[in-house]
Amino acid sequence: MVCIRQATMEDLLAMQACNLLCLPENYQMKYYLYHILSWPHLLYVAEDYGGKIVGYVLAKMEEESSEGGASGAVHGHITSLAVLRTHRKLGLATKLMTAAQNAMASVFGAEYVSLHVRRSNRAAFSLYTSTLGYKIHDTEAKYYADGEDAYDMRKQLRPKQAHVHHHAHGGGCCSGGEAVTAAKTVES
Ligand SMILES: CC(C)(COP(=O)(O)OP(=O)(O)OC[C@H]1O[C@@H](n2cnc3c(N)ncnc32)[C@H](O)[C@@H]1OP(=O)(O)O)[C@@H](O)C(=O)NCCC(=O)NCCS
Repeated sequence: MVCIRQATMEDLLAMQACNLLCLPENYQMKYYLYHILSWPHLLYVAEDYGGKIVGYVLAKMEEESSEGGASGAVHGHITSLAVLRTHRKLGLATKLMTAAQNAMASVFGAEYVSLHVRRSNRAAFSLYTSTLGYKIHDTEAKYYADGEDAYDMRKQLRPKQAHVHHHAHGGGCCSGGEAVTAAKTVES
């Protein structure tokens, strides 16, 4: 039996360990802290009956920015998602993603949710498109440190509206951005 619950500070090291086992995009602990302190509702873990963390989703909120000063939609962004090999194909990633998406909409009023995924990541691409209803919004050439392209994917959470805010933001999903990638140093 595995339960999905909101992550706490005590889970961050286990989430980081799971990330290191599953993905080449790794993050410093301060990046996990930044997420949980800023958007505590958007971090979820999958915990097995023995209390072991076997999966996580790390997500945040962003505001679209535009150089022309156009308005920006408040939206959620999936920074990272992983499930340990031993616990895959049980629907855990679907549940983690659904929990984060629901909180983005209900707590933060997100209009849509975005993420990046490697072109070659068939399992994740299929999860996002077939199961969760994401669509390809754009392709970002050489997005990842090893030169692989990313699909920039989006899922609408509520109808589009006119917007009035515009702020810059940073960070990226599964990402080049603030990730300490395999090609660089991995910190714990
Ligand atoms: C991608 C990942 C998170 C999926 O986790 P999961 O818990 O196994 O996913 P789910 O059980 O919720 O799968 C839901 C759907 O995703 C798709 N899917 C999952 N694994 C798949 C695979 N190996 N091949 C093809 N489709 C797959 C299927 O459509 C599946 O639905 P189905 O079971 O009805 O066929 C997991 O494989 C993983 O951690 N991979 C390494 C890290 C990673 O790639 N993270 C995403 C970075 S963007």
